[in-house]
Amino acid sequence: MISFRTQFCRGVTLLLLLLVEVANSANAPLRMPHAMVVAQEGIAAQVGAEVMKAGGNAIDGAIATAFALAVTHPAAGNIGGGGFLLYRPAQGEPVLYDFRETAPQASRPDMWLVDGKYDAQRHHNSHLAVGVPGTVAGLYQAWREHGKLPWSRLLAPAIRLASQGFIVSDELSSSLRSGLQRMQNYPAAVAQFSNHGKPYEQGARLVQKDLAVTLELIARQGSDGFYKGRIAQLLVEEIQRGGGVLTLQDLANYRPLARTPLRGTYRGYDVLTVPPPSSAVALIEMLNVCEGYDLRDMGFGTTATLHLMTETMRRAYADRAHYLGDPAFNPSMPIQRLLSKDYAEYLRTTINLKAASVSEVGQFEWPPESPQTTHLSIVDEARNAVALTYTLEAAYGSGIVAPGTGFLLNNEMGDFNAQAGLTNEQGLIGTTPNLAAGGKRMLSSMSPTILSKQGQLFMVTGSPGGRTIINTVLQTILNVVDHNMNAQAAVDAGRLHHQWLPDTVVTEAAAFSKDSLTALSTMGHRLSTRESIGAAQVIVVNQRDGMLEGGADKRDPDSTVSGY
Ligand code: DON
Repeated sequence: MISFRTQFCRGVTLLLLLLVEVANSANAPLRMPHAMVVAQEGIAAQVGAEVMKAGGNAIDGAIATAFALAVTHPAAGNIGGGGFLLYRPAQGEPVLYDFRETAPQASRPDMWLVDGKYDAQRHHNSHLAVGVPGTVAGLYQAWREHGKLPWSRLLAPAIRLASQGFIVSDELSSSLRSGLQRMQNYPAAVAQFSNHGKPYEQGARLVQKDLAVTLELIARQGSDGFYKGRIAQLLVEEIQRGGGVLTLQDLANYRPLARTPLRGTYRGYDVLTVPPPSSAVALIEMLNVCEGYDLRDMGFGTTATLHLMTETMRRAYADRAHYLGDPAFNPSMPIQRLLSKDYAEYLRTTINLKAASVSEVGQFEWPPESPQTTHLSIVDEARNAVALTYTLEAAYGSGIVAPGTGFLLNNEMGDFNAQAGLTNEQGLIGTTPNLAAGGKRMLSSMSPTILSKQGQLFMVTGSPGGRTIINTVLQTILNVVDHNMNAQAAVDAGRLHHQWLPDTVVTEAAAFSKDSLTALSTMGHRLSTRESIGAAQVIVVNQRDGMLEGGADKRDPDSTVSGY
C-alpha cells in the first residue's frame, strides 16, 4: 500500500511546478499571479491552494483549509469551536457568516457562581465552559451558498490527514507538550494528542482515527452529521457526565447567521469587517480616529504615532467594554454612532497630543489570553476573497474530547462576562451587554477584514490573539495604507496594544526604539512588554501589476503563504 506520505509527496511534486510554498521571513512578500492562501500552518495552506488549483473558488479553498487546520493545527483549528467567515466576491454582495458559539439554553448570568462567589475554573475550564459549536454549520452554509466543488471534496484532504497522519513540526510538538496539561483530566484527549501519554516529538506522525471517522460523517451528511445522531449523542453524554448543561436540543437548534458585514472607510479604502457579536466595531472606530492625522508624516514607531495609537485604542476599547454584545440580546447598542466620522471627530477633541489620558475605572487586569485562535486569508483567480478567523478560545479549548468523537470542545463561554456588576483587580468585567443567557452569542474580538478601493480588492487581513486581535488588524492596515509597507513587512513590523484597562501600553520586546518608548513614558504612559502579539495572515493585491502578495506571520513559525 502506498503510504499517505508518498501519495501526498507525489501530489505536491506535481503541484510544485506551479505551486510555491515558502517559509517567508525577510520582509519581501511572496508574489503569485493566480490564487493565494496565507494560514498559520503549511499543510493546511497547501490544501486550500490545491483546491483552488483544482477549480475551487476562495470559499472552497477556505473551507478545505479550515477543515485541514482542524487536523494539523489542533490548538485552534477546529470543528468544536466557532468563528466568522467574511466573503467578498469579485462581483455581488459581500456576506459575513457568523458561526460564533451560542450559550446552551439553560445558561444564566450567574452560572459562574458557586455559593454566590465567582469561580474562574467553572467559567473557563469546565464542561459548563463549552458553548454550542458553530464551525461545521457555518462552513456548511457558506459552501451551500457559494461553494463550487462538491462538499466531500473539501473534506477529503482533512480526512486523509487525520486517518493517515502527518508529521509533527517543532512548533506543534512544543504546543502539544503544553496543551497536554489542559487535557489531563480527559483520557480521550490525552490518547489523541500524545504518544501513550508522552508528548509527540518533532518528526513523529500524528494519526487521529476518531477524527477521521467524524469528518467522514460530516462529508457524507453535511452539518447533520455533526449536530444530530451519533456525534451529537456522544458529545452530550460527555458534557452531562461532567456537569455541563448543553443538550441535544441545543445542538439541533444551532443556526449560523449570514449577516451584512460592517462597513467603514479609511483614506479612500472601503473596509468590510465583522458586526456584533464581534467587537470589530472598535476597528472602524479606530480607523476613523486615525484618519484625522497624517500618520505617514508622523512616521512608523515614532513617539507621536505610538501615543496617538495608544489614545485611540484606549477610547475604542472602553466603548467595546461598555456597549457591545450579541445584538439579538442588545437591541439598542449605539453602533451607528460608534461607527460615524462625527464620533471620531469628537474623540479626537478628547486626545491631548502631548500627554497620556487616564482610563477612568480603577486598575484591574484583564484575564490572560494566549494567541490561540487562527486566521486565514484567501484570494482566488477571480479575486473573490475570504477572511476567516475561528477558535476554540484557549489553546486546545476546554481540553475535552468526548470519547469516540476525535475533536476538542471549545471553552468559549469564558468570553461572557463573569458576573453582573463585578469588576475587580483580578480581571472581571461586570458590564451587562455581555452577560451569559440561553441562546446568546458571547462577545468576540475576532476581526477578519477585507479592504477594497474603487470596487477592486486590495487587502485581506486578520489575526488571533484575543483582545489584541483588533489592534493587530488595525496595525496591519496602517502599516500598508499609511506606512507604505508591503504585506510581509506589514506583518513583521513591531506591534503595540492598549485595551483601556489595564491602563498599560504593551509593546513587543525590541519592536520600537528605546527613545520612542522613553518619551512615551515621559508623556505619562505606563509601559510593559510581551514577547509577541498576534499572528496576522495578510494578502495585498499589488496596485501596479495585480499580483497577490502574501505576508505570513513568523511569530508562529508554521505560518505559510501557499498558492500559484
Ligand atoms: O472570540 C474571541 O475574541 C476569543 N475567544 C478569541 C480567543 C483567541 O484569540 C485566543 N486567545 N487569545
